[in-house]
Amino acid sequence: MSRFRAFVVAATIIQGVAALNNGVAKLPVLRLEAWNAFQCNIDQDVIVDTAKLMISLGLREVGYEHIDLDDCWAEKNRTSSGELTPDKTRFSKGFNWVTDQVHSMGMKAGIYCDSGWFTCAGYPGSFDHEEQDAKTFVDWGFDLLKYDNCAIPYDDILKQNTFGKYQRMSDAIASVAKSTGKPPLIFSLCEWGWSQVWIWGQQVGQSWRVQGDLEPYWASVASTINFSSFITMAADFFGHNDLDILQIGQGNLTVDESKTHFTSWALMKSPLLISTNLSTIASSDLEILKNQEILAINQDPEVGTSISPFRWGVNPDWTSDPLHPAGYWSGPTQNGTVFMLINTLDSPTDMFFNLTESPWIRAGRQYSVRDLWTHTDNGTAARNFTANAVPAHGVVALLMKDAGDEPAGLEPKCAVWYQCTDQNGTSVGG
Ligand SMILES: *[C@@H]1O[C@H](CO)[C@@H](O)[C@H](O)[C@H]1NC(C)=O
Ligand SMILES: *[C@@H]1O[C@H](CO)[C@@H](O)[C@H](O)[C@H]1NC(C)=O
Ligand SMILES: *[C@@H]1O[C@H](CO)[C@@H](O)[C@H](O)[C@H]1NC(C)=O
Ligand SMILES: *[C@@H]1O[C@H](CO)[C@@H](O)[C@H](O)[C@H]1NC(C)=O
Ligand SMILES: *[C@@H]1O[C@H](CO)[C@@H](O)[C@H](O)[C@H]1NC(C)=O
Ligand SMILES: *[C@@H]1O[C@H](CO)[C@@H](O)[C@H](O)[C@H]1NC(C)=O
Ligand SMILES: *[C@@H]1O[C@H](CO)[C@@H](O)[C@H](O)[C@H]1NC(C)=O
Ligand SMILES: *[C@@H]1O[C@H](CO)[C@@H](O)[C@H](O)[C@H]1NC(C)=O
Ligand SMILES: *[C@@H]1O[C@H](CO)[C@@H](O)[C@H](O)[C@H]1NC(C)=O
Repeated sequence: MSRFRAFVVAATIIQGVAALNNGVAKLPVLRLEAWNAFQCNIDQDVIVDTAKLMISLGLREVGYEHIDLDDCWAEKNRTSSGELTPDKTRFSKGFNWVTDQVHSMGMKAGIYCDSGWFTCAGYPGSFDHEEQDAKTFVDWGFDLLKYDNCAIPYDDILKQNTFGKYQRMSDAIASVAKSTGKPPLIFSLCEWGWSQVWIWGQQVGQSWRVQGDLEPYWASVASTINFSSFITMAADFFGHNDLDILQIGQGNLTVDESKTHFTSWALMKSPLLISTNLSTIASSDLEILKNQEILAINQDPEVGTSISPFRWGVNPDWTSDPLHPAGYWSGPTQNGTVFMLINTLDSPTDMFFNLTESPWIRAGRQYSVRDLWTHTDNGTAARNFTANAVPAHGVVALLMKDAGDEPAGLEPKCAVWYQCTDQNGTSVGG
């Protein structure tokens, strides 16, 4: 194989399958998702009041523009013509009233259904009704569909894998967009990480869940970081790994754990789904969710890719360890290279890295350092950086911008000493 051909083949593999670029959700969608706080206790007032709180708490202003229903909104039976209907008591004014209210506040609304016979709470699923239901959701004024994975039909009826089951609704959404002339519903797959979704999800929808449900404590957050660290290459514009609803404000996460949770979700370009009762949200949690320097990277209009680990740290590289996932991460952004350091240990520790361990840093240059949690400019780094006393389960997020040539005379001559060679042919490195 010629060197050129080898390059083309490698590039094709790395690039993977092109995303379903249908014009919606180029960037991860910032949402409030009604499930964790409300479960089935939803009604038209809860939704509209929560949208109002998103505005008064300043969440809309920093980009959380969606409010999404989860399960339990429907009547248990379809009409005689097969139509879905909203719960007659809890949504007595109908969904057009709800979506009109939400839209009039400059926000968007999402609905939930299931790819099988029933939703997870036992309401009608969309299997075999895909086009009818997609049309109904659009007619009701919704902008997004979260689509669950419960009550899967028998093989001899389905005759599809998970991919094909979700493709049915993806096709229905495209068809309805065509016939109505309205933008396609943003399609948020909730297939629990089944069937290697990160390989095909881009062809079907705008985001896909990487695993089962996240729980509100550190071990679950760390385990999701472990899992996601191996599939960061799947994320780019129009297609995102969904690491699941943010657990901030729930369970027993500490402030440092919540910051790590939020930073890693945002920089891996996951959709960010708040699911806390906003009437009672703690100001420290709100402050985390509104970190605009972190949100700006999640919403980077020029760079769609995720951060990835460059060193695992506690473990050898590429080790799978649910409690000690990779600690040293970086990625390109519109404004420079972002670094994320996670202390997975149970006590504070110093974290050191050489800048060129990150593929996005140039040798022989120095970099200005911006701390994205303290919101301070922290001087200039040449060759390496040390974050002192990173708290247990805590995070450091840094934006490094090229600040010109490094000071003259730094040793060693090459940041990576191996193969370091003088122009006259003398090897000075190991
Ligand atoms: C949200 O919290 C408020 C204040 O505690 C409470 O009144 C309300 O019932 C909660 N909402 C739901 C749906 O649980
Ligand atoms: C819903 O449909 C089931 C099965 O067809 C039927 O037994 C039940 O009575 C219906 N419920 C209502 C409220 O119409
Ligand atoms: C950690 O990640 C590896 C690689 O994806 C995976 O095989 C393993 O199941 C993950 N651990 C947990 C607890 O999710
Ligand atoms: C947090 O909650 C989880 C689940 O209930 C529990 O296993 C863990 O020990 C708790 N952690 C702390 C520090 O309390
Ligand atoms: C880059 O910097 C500009 C100017 O400060 C800012 O508006 C933008 O949000 C930043 N982008 C990212 C991805 O951080
Ligand atoms: C870190 O870089 C500085 C130059 O900025 C250098 O003097 C120092 O030796 C480096 N530290 C390590 C541990 O490589
Ligand atoms: C950056 O500087 C601020 C203010 O001095 C300090 O609190 C913070 O710890 C520094 N960040 C790092 C990663 O060293
Ligand atoms: C950092 O660079 C120094 C000097 O080149 C080298 O001795 C050290 O092994 C490097 N450390 C890491 C973690 O790459
Ligand atoms: C070749 O390079 C080495 C390492 O920089 C230097 O010590 C040596 O003097 C050079 N030799 C000549 C002939 O320039």
